Amino acid sequence: MTKVITYGTYDLLHYGHIRLLERAKALGDYLVVGITSDAYDKTRGKINNQQSLMERIAAVEATGLADEIVVEEYEGQKIDDIKRLGIDIFTVGSDWEGYFDYLKEFCKVVYLERTEGISSSQIRAKNSSLKIGLLGNSQFLEKVYKESKVVNGGDICGIYADNLVDIPSSLKDLELVTDKLDLLLDNVDAVYIHSYPAIHYEQIRYALNKGKHVLVESPVALNRTQYKELVNLAQINKVVLMEAIRTAYSTAYNRLLVILQSGKIGEIVSVDATCTSLKSINNKELDKKWNSITAWGPTALLPVFQILGDDYVEKKIISRVEQENKDIKFDTFTKIDFVFEDATASIKVGRGVKSEGELIISGTKGYAYVPAPWWKTDYFELRYENPADNRRYFYQLDGEGIRYELVSFLQAIRTGSNNVAIATEVTDAIVGIMEDYFEDSNVTLI
Ligand code: CTP
Repeated sequence: MTKVITYGTYDLLHYGHIRLLERAKALGDYLVVGITSDAYDKTRGKINNQQSLMERIAAVEATGLADEIVVEEYEGQKIDDIKRLGIDIFTVGSDWEGYFDYLKEFCKVVYLERTEGISSSQIRAKNSSLKIGLLGNSQFLEKVYKESKVVNGGDICGIYADNLVDIPSSLKDLELVTDKLDLLLDNVDAVYIHSYPAIHYEQIRYALNKGKHVLVESPVALNRTQYKELVNLAQINKVVLMEAIRTAYSTAYNRLLVILQSGKIGEIVSVDATCTSLKSINNKELDKKWNSITAWGPTALLPVFQILGDDYVEKKIISRVEQENKDIKFDTFTKIDFVFEDATASIKVGRGVKSEGELIISGTKGYAYVPAPWWKTDYFELRYENPADNRRYFYQLDGEGIRYELVSFLQAIRTGSNNVAIATEVTDAIVGIMEDYFEDSNVTLI
């Protein structure tokens, strides 16, 4: 019996795939199809799959061409599979010509002519190309634009800013560059807002009322009443409102959360997060609009509320403010200590102050250590009393998590679900801290 194996993602199964599978099957008597797992695809930079592994497997099964299906989960697995399954022929499409010649040591390698004029990427792009507009003039939007290029299903086509002079240079060539908000909103399906905290609420409200989906840099709003109103508006208008904290979309951070849930470090006793940076020099006007608590507070608070919940019993806020801007509580450094029923947490955030940007989560059996800058890390460790038990975890992080965030936003729009990485309760708790900071007189200012 001649055993043949072929591999692929098979997203949105199309006739190019079916023709490939038919010819692969005809090469022998028994066909094994390797289907890539979502995690493996992510490490290969394939982040746009619209179907889950289970859906992709079901589609290949339904062709009736595969005698056996295996899931491809790691680099180098092809060699293992070929040896383990006693494969005689390895085959793939001619787009891979030459690439798998190293397998000739283990079996025969055949490249089959690729079917012209069709691919999963093409179908995905055609299915849903949403027009996205940018709001704001932060340099950061350049990164968002760059990352959007690797994401299927959404095109950034314009930018609005109240001051066109400060728009980053690479964005000045977009199709639509305007200081008229209505003009931008009338020409897009969705917006990415990164203006400044004091106007986020107004801009979001305006966009939602026009039926546009919104992805907004945190903080979404500066008090809970505003946030509640925005959530209701999004529901009424059947659009997505999503908070942008890119750390929430990093693979390492997500794995850390589930590992902690599985009790690997025991009961969690303390979460301590620090995020600081010096001021940027590119846009001085914008710099005056982002203080420490708004620029870094949401990111530092994310693990606190995601790990311990939002039900803290008390907190103490201490801030060092610019003396000339004391009236508007413009802090360069803030420390918050939280007391939960059976745990504690602390955050330190600084803009214009530097500290070690690490995240430490202490438990009854051990602790998790995420080195600086923890908010864009690809690595963490679990550490124990006995160093021999320590474990290190590495995951790929492309584009600081922005591309995964965009994929998630487009997925939420496509599927009509608001099931995104940051729960409404967590955003609400973050907004609550902004409210308490600005509106409560109980903040210690130094
Ligand atoms: N294939 C083919 N003809 C096509 C598309 C794919 O013969 N028009 C083959 C590939 O060469 C590969 C298998 O089908 O052997 C699975 O390919 P996959 O990467 O899953 O599909 P693509 O459509 O190429 O996906 P994408 O656009 O995401 O790269």
